[in-house]
Amino acid sequence: MKNIRNFCIIAHIDHGKSTLADRLLEITGTVTQREMKSQLLDQMDIERERGITIKLQPVRMEWKGCELNLIDTPGHVDFAYEVSRSLAAVEGALLVVDATQGVEAQTLANLHLAQEQGLVIIPVINKVDLPAADVESVTQEIMSLLPDIKPEDVIAISAKTGKNVESILDAIIEKLPAPMTPETPEGTKALVFDSFFDDYRGVITYVRVFSGSFKQGDKLLFMGTKNHSETIEVGSFRPKLTPSSSLEAGEIGYIVTGLKSVADARVGDTITTEANQATKSLAGYKESKPFVFAGVFPKDGAQYQELRDALDKMQLSDASFTFEPERSSSLGPGFRCGFLGLLHVEIFQERLKREYGLELILTTPSVEYQITLKNGEEKNIHSPHEYPDPSSILETREPYISIEVITPSEYIGSIMNVMTEKRGEYITTEYLDETRAILTYDMPLFSILTDFYDTIKSVSSGYASLNYEYTDYRPCELVKMDILVAEDVVEPLSVLVYKDTAYNAGKKIVEALKDTLPREMFEIKIQAAVGGKIIASARLSAMRKDVTAKLYGGDVTRKRKLLEKQKKGKKKMKAMGMGKVDIPQEAFLSILKR
Ligand code: GTP
Repeated sequence: MKNIRNFCIIAHIDHGKSTLADRLLEITGTVTQREMKSQLLDQMDIERERGITIKLQPVRMEWKGCELNLIDTPGHVDFAYEVSRSLAAVEGALLVVDATQGVEAQTLANLHLAQEQGLVIIPVINKVDLPAADVESVTQEIMSLLPDIKPEDVIAISAKTGKNVESILDAIIEKLPAPMTPETPEGTKALVFDSFFDDYRGVITYVRVFSGSFKQGDKLLFMGTKNHSETIEVGSFRPKLTPSSSLEAGEIGYIVTGLKSVADARVGDTITTEANQATKSLAGYKESKPFVFAGVFPKDGAQYQELRDALDKMQLSDASFTFEPERSSSLGPGFRCGFLGLLHVEIFQERLKREYGLELILTTPSVEYQITLKNGEEKNIHSPHEYPDPSSILETREPYISIEVITPSEYIGSIMNVMTEKRGEYITTEYLDETRAILTYDMPLFSILTDFYDTIKSVSSGYASLNYEYTDYRPCELVKMDILVAEDVVEPLSVLVYKDTAYNAGKKIVEALKDTLPREMFEIKIQAAVGGKIIASARLSAMRKDVTAKLYGGDVTRKRKLLEKQKKGKKKMKAMGMGKVDIPQEAFLSILKR
């Protein structure tokens, strides 16, 4: 075990995590340059196009007689729980900071999680080959975050050219502790830090073994979900899944479990064996609960069954996603789906489109409301169209979160303004040091579904980072707002809004729609209505095709004639009922990001 080192990489988006991982694989000879290309091509399309890595594959490398295991931490707050479980599986982290950008929000949030886990941090400054690199001041920033670090501990590299990357490998061996087992191990224990579903072999769990060992044929018990199964295969990531005879304490590897759904082998769970059964599971297991709900409907009603099959399959590989059937009067049969957060919604939508070729309509995301009716009945609703007749309601309650924003002190004022505007209730301010503070607020979950991240980012020049957890349900006053496009109610655009801000919300929504709806050959009226009363409206003017483009010089009357003809054509089109407006998917998301 003394020759094992387990680590992860913490970095802000674009600071070079994937590039560095590639260089480490190359230098340690784990993959050849030719294989490297194909591995890059392996990435999910969505990730490549958006230029973000949602998750890297774990990998085992060898360097100077040591076994180095690298695992990834997703960088987005939607997945904070998964990050914390990955960090719990390793002893150290490379903190990678871009020499031209300095320390940023996402780095901070994950660094704090790593420090909470007591990980050893190796600071790395990347992109020193760039002319704008400022190694000195970035070193200062890192030192203010990590008081125990000396300037000579900071490794300056170029992940692109490979310069100095070898010293990272040496530092990992020197500075990170080897894994340790508890002095009195009580049974075999492994932490699940990720799991995925393989069509042929069932659920494959990615684990860190803390005590005991696993081998083929072992009877397994998942201590959190209480599921039983049998070990079909164990092995490590090189970087392809490579079988081995056993997986020992201290190691990171995989276990093929034969389970049928990742919900049976959840991230954070402890696996033990029946032969050497542990009594206490590893700390930190939670069942992730969906927070954000949206209706999902096939654009073409005939694809309902296909959609149902796709959702079934998605759930096999994504334990935090839920769905149940729902019927809408205008969209027909569909599903109400639950997600961890907005990024999760976007990834889901992209996957259904690309992997299953399904054209979907997604309704505006919402939270879960608890409603007590005057007749004593209790209801939980997930969508605006389930909202009961207002006169029958005694009380409505909404989910609240406790939210922490870590920010440089100069932005405290502007962040507090945003929090107040978003119905936050101030709790405390604590200082991490002279320059950085943690603001704590209680806030409706609903507030962060709107443009919250973007606003916090922009008022803090990107430096603030945030984390939240779900707390309780509190009373609120809502109204249902309908949106009309070309005088028709577009049911999936309906939203529940706070009564006291309905007027403003309506104005913002119609403006946002005006910016996202495509122009048609005729003018489109966009309106917001509460209880049948119009409270806001906007007009999207008609597209004008330049019918006079082919004319040059010549007679003005000819030009006028063509324009007249165009006008008549448009009138006729409207009269013939061709004025139906196609609502693109962006319109639904734009309402949230207004
Ligand atoms: P995400 O995938 O979004 O998490 O980003 P990442 O941190 O994995 O960054 P990635 O490795 O994709 O690098 C981002 C960009 O920076 C790419 O265009 C890289 O080519 C570039 N880059 C990475 N390292 C270096 C470096 O040392 N020097 C220079 N000049 N560019 C680099």
